[in-house]
Amino acid sequence: MSVNSVDLGDPQLNQAIQEGMQRVEHILREELSRGEDFLVEKVLHLVEAGGKRFRPMFALLAAQYGPHSDTDAVAEAAAVVEVVHLATLYHDDVMDEAERRRGVASANSRWNNSVAILAGDILLAHASGLMARLGTETVAHFSETFAMLVTGQMRETIGAQGGDPVEHYLKVIREKTGVLIASAGYLGALHAGADSHTIAALQRFGSAIGMVFQIVDDIIDIFSDPKESGKTPGTDLKEGVYTLPVLYALREESEEGDRLRELLVGPVHDDETLEEILDLLRRSSGREQALADVHRYLEEADEQLKHLPENAATRALRMLASFSVQRAG
Ligand code: IPE
Ligand code: IPE
Ligand code: MG
Ligand code: MG
Repeated sequence: MSVNSVDLGDPQLNQAIQEGMQRVEHILREELSRGEDFLVEKVLHLVEAGGKRFRPMFALLAAQYGPHSDTDAVAEAAAVVEVVHLATLYHDDVMDEAERRRGVASANSRWNNSVAILAGDILLAHASGLMARLGTETVAHFSETFAMLVTGQMRETIGAQGGDPVEHYLKVIREKTGVLIASAGYLGALHAGADSHTIAALQRFGSAIGMVFQIVDDIIDIFSDPKESGKTPGTDLKEGVYTLPVLYALREESEEGDRLRELLVGPVHDDETLEEILDLLRRSSGREQALADVHRYLEEADEQLKHLPENAATRALRMLASFSVQRAG
């Protein structure tokens, strides 16, 4: 399901966002079709597979708070966030040895790791080109955003190192996911000419929604039907990455908790053990506890909306927030 099919509750806003998203799609195809065919084919692989386009849509909504919401710069800013996101997906799937992405074979599994890494790299080259057109403020912002995102991916890779695993997890996702969604809010509002107070509120809203989004995604990784998620369940566990529902289940004083502590001592290699773990997780309170945190971040997001005028865009942001939770089923 894509956010494009979401009714934002206001016909005028629906039309503005729909038109904006068409421009974003056009920019994506045009920019990413530049270069040798053998490169273009690899980057269009995931673009054409779809995805929710959550970040560009949020960027366009954030742009509604400024006087120049339907300019080329706004559509380019929205597109650039999606291009950066795509680059991270190619690289992330190599690191996670993921097989599926957006309902199709991941680039690393369809081709190989080298191809997937280079496809991610060329996407960053495209993103740089688009950003150069948007100006140095955008480039400087991207430098910070991307540094934080990589910090989060690296923090996840090296693990909690004796620190509190839940705190570590929350820090990781703020960096690896929250920061880019925050960036969508920032860039959309900035290029529409919104005031700095509004830009900051949208950025913080994005960061909180990013937390919601990632925890929900991690819940999906364990508990959802692969037909709906387009991913293989248990991918994180196979990599020895313990996400929030797993961390909570591991703390549980119960038979399930005991057995999980026995089984979860490293990456899970065989399918039978994985099935047992997934089953134990389903019976644990991990999902419920993770969802309690989701609601805490939803409140954090809602707090930020109080700094914005009460209008159709703000109501749409509330819907976007609830959309990101509904995915958890
Ligand atoms: C996937 O992001 C990576 C995460 C940060 C959870 P999305 O769930 O937005 O992926 P697409 O763009 O819809 O494929
Ligand atoms: C994705 O993290 C975050 C980035 C790509 C920066 P995950 O590894 O948790 O996301 P999925 O589950 O592969 O989409
Ligand atoms: Mg991954
Ligand atoms: Mg990952």
